[in-house]
Amino acid sequence: MFSILLGAAVLALAGLLVLQTIWFRSAYNVEEQQFDNKVNLAIRALTDDLLKAEGDSASVIRPIVKKATNAYYVDFRHALSYNILDSLLRKNFARHDIDLPFELTIYGAQPGTIVLGNYYSLGATSKDHATCGSRALPASTPMDFMITFPGKRADIVGGMKFWILSAIVFLVVLSLFAFLVIDLMKQKKLSEIRTDLMNNITHELQTPIANISIASEVLRAGTGKMDEHKSLHYANIIYEENRRLKFQVEQVLQTALCEKGQLALIKTEVNVNTLVEEVIRNFQLRVQHRQGQLNCRLEATKPVVLADAFHLANIFYSLLDNADKYSPDKPDIVITTTNTLSGILIAIADKGIGIRRDVQRYIFDKFYRAGTGNMHDVKGFGLGLTYVQKIVQAHQGKISLTSEPHQGSRFELYFETC
Ligand SMILES: Nc1ncnc2c1ncn2[C@@H]1O[C@H](COP(=O)(O)OP(=O)(O)OP(=O)(O)O)[C@@H](O)[C@H]1O
Ligand SMILES: [Mg+2]
Repeated sequence: MFSILLGAAVLALAGLLVLQTIWFRSAYNVEEQQFDNKVNLAIRALTDDLLKAEGDSASVIRPIVKKATNAYYVDFRHALSYNILDSLLRKNFARHDIDLPFELTIYGAQPGTIVLGNYYSLGATSKDHATCGSRALPASTPMDFMITFPGKRADIVGGMKFWILSAIVFLVVLSLFAFLVIDLMKQKKLSEIRTDLMNNITHELQTPIANISIASEVLRAGTGKMDEHKSLHYANIIYEENRRLKFQVEQVLQTALCEKGQLALIKTEVNVNTLVEEVIRNFQLRVQHRQGQLNCRLEATKPVVLADAFHLANIFYSLLDNADKYSPDKPDIVITTTNTLSGILIAIADKGIGIRRDVQRYIFDKFYRAGTGNMHDVKGFGLGLTYVQKIVQAHQGKISLTSEPHQGSRFELYFETC
């Protein structure tokens, strides 16, 4: 429904734009026609006057030729006296209300030879003598002349104030509309994301809650009867699921705190190699459970950074979580640490589904999930990487990604070392 309405509105506006252009064009044509008529009448009256001044009443002057949109060529073929032409020109132009600057060019008998060119700067009422040169025209030589209005187009457009105003108003309306549409689309996307998020949260939180409740019920029912090995198994389930729950709630809360700018980091000197080993130890079980492997090459010789150990561990966990979740077959994850000139590089590489190039720039956006919503068979909030990026930035670090679909992904973190 929304897209139909949007399409109709865009079509209507496009129609209006076309109409506006056509109206503008035809209004311009009418104005131009009027101007041409005025010039034609003035030049006709001028040639009549010129012939009359010579006492010639028999000759007929050929129609005026428009050499260009603003140039009017008069096929006069009679001798011209500059002074008479000048005064009659000004008289006739003034009489026909033509006060636009124009150029007068007089052509000699041989085609194309210019005898004289003059520029009338303030229209027909005054002329610029400085550019005039010699005004003595060869006597009794047949001559033609052409009048050009360099500012004709600007003058016509300038006279169409109403049209220009309406075009501006229309453009303002158009940009407002575009702005509204963009905003509306953002809102729509956000509300879709929210629905997705609600579905995901429900699923993500319900699974551990259900597991915990089943395991604890079994434990309760079997108190005294169950052997130690079994009860430890159920207790472990509760412990693991609770940890998962805690991590998820923590992640949502921390992202919200980051958003509000209320993230308080407690920075201490942290040995990245040790921290990575610790996170891996906790994570190893999960990977082994899926018959995968998680290896590390901790090659950094200067591994100490000034950072918040809790958040740093969380971001490693979040990246490992992704590496595992988005490896549909047996996960094969490698973590490496190396030193650069001034800092430490931590790379987490997997051989999972990879991320398409065109969506790579979105994955750090809040709630963004490639192939969003219920279509996704792997659940999540779309918050993990947002959190990771926020924490990395809060530590003045850098995060980068290289990934190829079906080949795997490699996230690299960079922090300055102490
Ligand atoms: N290692 C990876 N391999 C393939 N795709 C990935 C990987 N890491 C992230 N992605 C893609 O980026 C998206 C965003 O990741 P992010 O960690 O922010 O959210 P999530 O994993 O979907 O949810 P959660 O909030 O639970 O972490 C994921 O939905 C996934 O499509
Ligand atoms: Mg994630």
